[in-house]
Amino acid sequence: MSVKILGIESSCDETAAAVVEDGSKVRSNIIYSQIDLHEVYGGVVPEIASRKHVEKINQVIKKAMQEADCTWEELDAVAVTYGPGLVGALLVGVSCAKALAYAKGLPLVGVNHIEGHIAANFIEHEDLKPPFMCMVASGGHSHLVYVKDYTEYEIVGRTRDDAAGEAFDKVARAIGLGYPGGPKVDKLAKEGNPEAIAFPRAHMEDAPYDFSFSGLKSAVLNYLNGCEMKKIEINRADVAASFQAAVVDVLTDNSVRAAKAYGCEKLALAGGVASNSALRARMTEACEKAGVSFYYPSPVYCTDNAAMIGVQGYHAFMAGERSGLDLNAVPNLKIGER
Ligand code: KG4
Ligand code: ZN
Repeated sequence: MSVKILGIESSCDETAAAVVEDGSKVRSNIIYSQIDLHEVYGGVVPEIASRKHVEKINQVIKKAMQEADCTWEELDAVAVTYGPGLVGALLVGVSCAKALAYAKGLPLVGVNHIEGHIAANFIEHEDLKPPFMCMVASGGHSHLVYVKDYTEYEIVGRTRDDAAGEAFDKVARAIGLGYPGGPKVDKLAKEGNPEAIAFPRAHMEDAPYDFSFSGLKSAVLNYLNGCEMKKIEINRADVAASFQAAVVDVLTDNSVRAAKAYGCEKLALAGGVASNSALRARMTEACEKAGVSFYYPSPVYCTDNAAMIGVQGYHAFMAGERSGLDLNAVPNLKIGER
């Protein structure tokens, strides 16, 4: 008998629902992205995000059930992101999931969004099983995580300041690309020289796997200001490529060193930044050299989606995790916290 989970995700600016079978077969994956709405403001406006989630969530869930050709009787549980994320946005998904679980008599499973990002790797990689090392780099979070088991984690390293995606978004804004900046920097960097400008790579003396991007971000802004003052024409493609190279260097170096130190034969990427083409290429090369197998999800499973919540929901469900109808949104939920 197969286990079917309805996954619901509303932690930021994507309203998403998906039906996942046996923890890896994605029967449907519906994503309503609000990017167009927030683009004019240069970032996500929490109040607008929450209101749009309220408007869209029922339609998105209905479509996910229809596309999966799944009845409510066939479902085994409802899994929902309850943190981390924007509190108002999270509450929409959580309230909706609670109402559905109550009305349909289904178990409810609260899922950590970052654990969901990691689990996105299980969709397309049958051979990837814990333990492994995972670099989670998204717009709100950057963590190096030792995945001991499907619901057991150890944080090996973290960002001291900005998340990797946040750095991409801020630099993109500074060079006049829109929001979200990651994909735009990725594209423009292809036309630039990654060695044109020597931007800093921060290494922490006291915590060898931690990283920091605020110094890099300031260096880019200082470089741009300097050029403007000296009336030097800015080559935006070179800035994009050189900035991206600095981020990629740090993420790759820390991940591979950690994988080796922890004796991991497998290393995975997760989160929005995992779809960065330069990062994937560098990691592929470095992992090959280190004799480590490298995994990453397709772009649609890197950025926010509900299939990853259905996958992690499945593992939590199988491990016996259940949430009560008093489940609340936890904006600062930590990885592995229950
Ligand atoms: O995982 P995600 O969808 O949302 C969060 O949980 O934060 O990640 C979104 C972030 C944004 O900062 C976006 O700029 C970045 O991922 N991103 C990328 C790329 N695609 C998305 N960053 C670099 N290169 C990309 N190709
Ligand atoms: Zn995310």
